[in-house]
Amino acid sequence: MPIAHLLTTKDLSDQGLQALLRESNAIVPHLGHRHDLTYTLPGRNIALVFFEPSTRTRLSFETAAHRLGASTALFQPAGSSIEKGETFLDTIQTIDAMRFDALVIRHGLDGTQAEIAATVSVPVISAGEGTKAHPTQGLLDASTLLEQFGTLEGLRIVIVGDVRHSRVARSQVDVCSRLGAEVAICAPESLMPREPEFIDGLRRFSNVDEALDWCSVVSVLRLQRERFVDVEVNDLEAYRRDFTITRSRLERNPDMRMIHPGPVNPGVEIDHGLIQHHQSLVHRQVTHGVAMRMAVISRMLSNPASIIRT
Ligand code: CP
Repeated sequence: MPIAHLLTTKDLSDQGLQALLRESNAIVPHLGHRHDLTYTLPGRNIALVFFEPSTRTRLSFETAAHRLGASTALFQPAGSSIEKGETFLDTIQTIDAMRFDALVIRHGLDGTQAEIAATVSVPVISAGEGTKAHPTQGLLDASTLLEQFGTLEGLRIVIVGDVRHSRVARSQVDVCSRLGAEVAICAPESLMPREPEFIDGLRRFSNVDEALDWCSVVSVLRLQRERFVDVEVNDLEAYRRDFTITRSRLERNPDMRMIHPGPVNPGVEIDHGLIQHHQSLVHRQVTHGVAMRMAVISRMLSNPASIIRT
């Protein structure tokens, strides 16, 4: 039987997607109550392998594992034998030989997760891969919106900013569309994605005010300068004028809600202080991140066939 991996949200069956949302939303009210810890995975051990920086994803996977009774071990390249010349593949095979129950992996290059999955002996759960996919982020965003709106059926979501380099956008589009939302993208031409399989069927806006008039949810993305190949935004002032989610743009539609995967660069893609705005769900997303990762780890370690497409 092949090992089941969660590398993109497309790996999830529709039934699996619904199960994770249901389980995550059932966990959320119990977070913060120490008597409600659910030790369903005692004695299990998960490697957190982070080749890229992270705050939210790493800490929430770690917290999720601990709340389930599993232990974790963290690998980061700085301070590892990679600095002595050990190759990427040797590093992965060394970690795999320690017999963890699952590997949670973040890597900045597209294609690495599939390469890793092909060589290891346990399930791989992606914690973000290049520009390709960030499955648990897409899932936790959907679960946050589900809590807020009750359903995603017919919900209008516009993703604003650096869509071209965004793994979050790719996972959000897949999950939210499958749940019945109408998803649009809004970006300057230089930050519009190029792949037809991603953009076909998506409504596109070049004017952020028109996009905000259309939507109920704005999903804001930061400029991912670490992924810029050429200078894709060389006029930051023009970007701020045309695409930044300002307080007045947000408040013009009081029923609209704002999400952002973080990290946020205030003053660039959104105004300073807007994370705390009552129309912002950013901190709620972080809470849902713990619950969703509990649901994902739980299923991937106990019954992956119940959520992963065969
Ligand atoms: N949203 C997200 O992936 O944040 P981190 O990079 O802090 O994990």
